[in-house]
Amino acid sequence: MKKIGKKIGFVAAMALVGLAILSTRYDMVDLPVWHFFGGGRGIDPASLHLQGEFVESNLGAAEGPAGSVTVRMIAQQFVFVPQCIVVPAAVPITFRITSADVVHTLSFLGTDYGLKAVPGAVTEATFTFAKAGEFKIPCHEFCGAGHYAMRGQLDVVPREQFASLLPGERRTCELR
Ligand code: CUA
Repeated sequence: MKKIGKKIGFVAAMALVGLAILSTRYDMVDLPVWHFFGGGRGIDPASLHLQGEFVESNLGAAEGPAGSVTVRMIAQQFVFVPQCIVVPAAVPITFRITSADVVHTLSFLGTDYGLKAVPGAVTEATFTFAKAGEFKIPCHEFCGAGHYAMRGQLDVVPREQFASLLPGERRTCELR
């Protein structure tokens, strides 16, 4: 009976190690498993531009009810679409991002904020940028040959200035 006890102990230990690996390699293991079982409502990375939330006219910063601001963005090898986004300062900004191909990570230089863009899923997070300024958004996940050149930009402008911008001017940094 002692032998069986040892065996059970060994199996339990292996199960624990397995669980530990699963919990640390979240994006490599858990996400695909989660998607396999139908998590994330499976948006199709190949048709993002054609239908649904991430069509081009819906990208960039948009004002919702009660002055809330939502930013929609696609990460793809090796650009962010839109490449530059304009948002108001001191307002909570809800980001909704996805990937058209592989996993990318947006990091907002000069802040602690970061976001993972995963194909087939939408990542949502809300960040507030206290003051106006420019933030580079380099990709922080090795995503292929062009990874090191993959960077977007976030322009944080005063609230009143944001309010005066047309929708098209909120997804480019060139018109101002
Ligand atoms: Cu995208 Cu690295």
